[in-house]
Amino acid sequence: MAGGPRRQYNNPIIRWIEYRLPIVSTMEATLGRDMPTPRNLNYWWSMGMILTVALAIQILTGIFLAMHYVPTAEGAFDSVERIMRDVNNGWMIRYMHANGASLFFAAVYIHIMRGLYYGSYKAPRELLWILGVLLLFIMMATAFIGYVLPWGQMSFWGATVITNLFSAIPLIGETLTTWIWGGFAVDNPTLNRFFSLHYLLPFVIAGITVLHIWALHVHGPSNPLGISPKGKHDTLPYHPYYTTKYLTVFGITLIIFAFFVFYEPLYLNHPDSFKPADPLSTPSHIVPEWYFLPFYAILRAIPDKLGGVIMFIASVAILFLVPFLDTSKVRSARFRPIYKQFYWIFIADVLLLGWCGSQPAGGIALLLARLGTVYYFAHFLLVMPLVGWFEKPRAIPEGISKPVIPKERAGFTAETSPEAAE
Ligand code: HEM
Repeated sequence: MAGGPRRQYNNPIIRWIEYRLPIVSTMEATLGRDMPTPRNLNYWWSMGMILTVALAIQILTGIFLAMHYVPTAEGAFDSVERIMRDVNNGWMIRYMHANGASLFFAAVYIHIMRGLYYGSYKAPRELLWILGVLLLFIMMATAFIGYVLPWGQMSFWGATVITNLFSAIPLIGETLTTWIWGGFAVDNPTLNRFFSLHYLLPFVIAGITVLHIWALHVHGPSNPLGISPKGKHDTLPYHPYYTTKYLTVFGITLIIFAFFVFYEPLYLNHPDSFKPADPLSTPSHIVPEWYFLPFYAILRAIPDKLGGVIMFIASVAILFLVPFLDTSKVRSARFRPIYKQFYWIFIADVLLLGWCGSQPAGGIALLLARLGTVYYFAHFLLVMPLVGWFEKPRAIPEGISKPVIPKERAGFTAETSPEAAE
């Protein structure tokens, strides 16, 4: 039999399928049905699950929206209004989709911050991380083009500002922009191709997510201590321990999501989105969605258009290099007293950039955006390599189940500890 011994299944339907196409056993072998999971995962390890749920929500609600949406410059705005007023539960589907994008980004940012704090990107999980950054890039592209589809003022002008950036590329810039637009301005062909791509890209995200989770299952998840499990006493089966633990996060997330969908659906929206696109009237202040604000601040912080575009792309692309920029041998920031401080300064810097991105470009906001941009890149290019070299990490516990506190002070030895007695 090709592919080694297969598992025996009691369910006759699965047995029938397995004999002809060993899909269930292959999935179990790669996705690890009984994968032993470190016993000390905290709640920050639940975001991957929330992301998967968010992707499912976006795809499902998106499919139903697409049934009623009209992807033409004449029909788009009205078709969205029709979804809101005439389609059964259309308002709910649309609000779920719009707020679902925010949920998706909130979860992905927490997921990335978790990775940066606990050094999840370190060997042997570099490729897992790189696939994650690729997911982030595609998520951003998908969200950006999705925002254009309702064809309101913000859609139109957001698309105009961002697509115009390509024209800064030397030699090919103008031609490339015309090619993206499908004409000489953002217009019907642009909207049409954006719709086509907006439908396609979530499935690309789903495909890369499978690779991401596959890579995760090769070496298993890392954990808050950043040390590998040393045996059975360091691990737990994922189910029922983590399924139940993370069910609470799932519940709380759904409550927050429902609050936004049913009580504050437009909280994150912009009033100009209620005006149909008008190429002859530019809104006084063009702002992107909240999840793009730090990157938007970096884009505008650079006085030169091409320079801004490069830094804008570099601000996300630099994440690809993180596994190679961090020189520390220690994975988790728990044992890295200096990196830990820099980590929080970095978070504050990103929040500051976010605020700057929401303000008109000028005055103090512009100055802070410039300083924030310098610090943003310095964190990756200077802090990560240098702190890794010079920092003296704290003592690392021998194993996940062994207490770190010295035996004398703890009052019990690792062998007589309550954990060892389990
Ligand atoms: C569509 C977006 C994404 C989905 C659906 C997704 C899904 C998941 C899932 C299910 C896990 C395992 C559970 C967990 O650790 O939370 C995971 C782990 C991980 N993800 Fe993602 N992810 C996404 C984006 C990203 C991004 C943008 C990054 C980094 C830039 C990233 C980096 C990682 C890393 C390093 C781990 C392993 C963490 C560890 O074990 O310490 N992921 N992801």
